Amino acid sequence: MSGPVPATAEETGVPVIDIAGLADPELRPPIVASIGAACERVGFIVITGHGVPGELIDRMYEVNREFFELPLEHKLRSASARGNLYRGYGSVEAFGRESVVEGFENGRFDDAADVAAAGYGPEWSEDFEGNIWPARPSAFRPVWREYYAVMEGLSARLMAAFAEALDLPADWFDDKFDRHTSYLNANFYPAQPEPPEDGRMRRGAHTDIGSLTILYQDGIGGLQVFDRSGRWCDVPPVPGSYVINLGDMLAKWTNDRWVATEHRVVNPPAETAHQPRMSIPYFQHPNFDALIECIPSCTSANNPPRYRSVLAGDWSKYRMSLAV
Ligand code: OGA
Ligand code: NI
Repeated sequence: MSGPVPATAEETGVPVIDIAGLADPELRPPIVASIGAACERVGFIVITGHGVPGELIDRMYEVNREFFELPLEHKLRSASARGNLYRGYGSVEAFGRESVVEGFENGRFDDAADVAAAGYGPEWSEDFEGNIWPARPSAFRPVWREYYAVMEGLSARLMAAFAEALDLPADWFDDKFDRHTSYLNANFYPAQPEPPEDGRMRRGAHTDIGSLTILYQDGIGGLQVFDRSGRWCDVPPVPGSYVINLGDMLAKWTNDRWVATEHRVVNPPAETAHQPRMSIPYFQHPNFDALIECIPSCTSANNPPRYRSVLAGDWSKYRMSLAV
């Protein structure tokens, strides 16, 4: 990237916020306020000072790179027999119409017994498709598990700050996430020696489904958000940072006080077209049976609730059943 990166990110409307000070009671209030302002204005934040070890991010990239470089027939052994793109490997072909990407995604539960052990009744565990783990590389599963646990911690810290930004007690979200159902994903965007002929992008425009997304992107770039001015704005890579964005559930929960902004990944310019791009999003989802109903501080006499209440698990199932 050329120029001062944080300044460039500011210009696009996605602020860069150092969250290290959240742990300090004196520094916390202004950081919470700037997080709240960003959630209201654009629904995207670039965070630094998050405390996730760089060497863990490196290992996560390494195991995923090793996996995606395997021959297709190896990778397809980790595909869902049901064609579910939210479990195991999804090929470029499986992603199909919208996006030129291959991916790997798993959740918290390896099987239906894990769902039941987390305290969910048969309505959530029956018909549940568990995680799919590849045989190679052998470090894949342990590194994913380690990374997932670190994302659980970071997302909980962010939700506490979100609660305060919404004038709620810091622990307001805790009992909605104590049996959370979050997903971890790796997006591998193959090199594009030729741009796709059918007009597809690396990732078509969409909003995320869950509560918040914590995404690591490499240095290639291409992520854009559709901001309130009606323009697509770059979210340039800031080394060592995470991109945080709100999903549909938080927009509903906050009665649209906060926004789940559309975003996409455009095809690379000629200079970087010979390089693949990889991003690693953690999609935080609440407990299956958390009720997404208008947060009390987000409604008033002249601002009634706009959405019907819905269980988080029902919303996810509905959204995941739609085309990607
Ligand atoms: C996603 C997504 C953006 C990226 O996986 O939902 O928006 O930078 N990814 O890969
Ligand atoms: Ni997304």
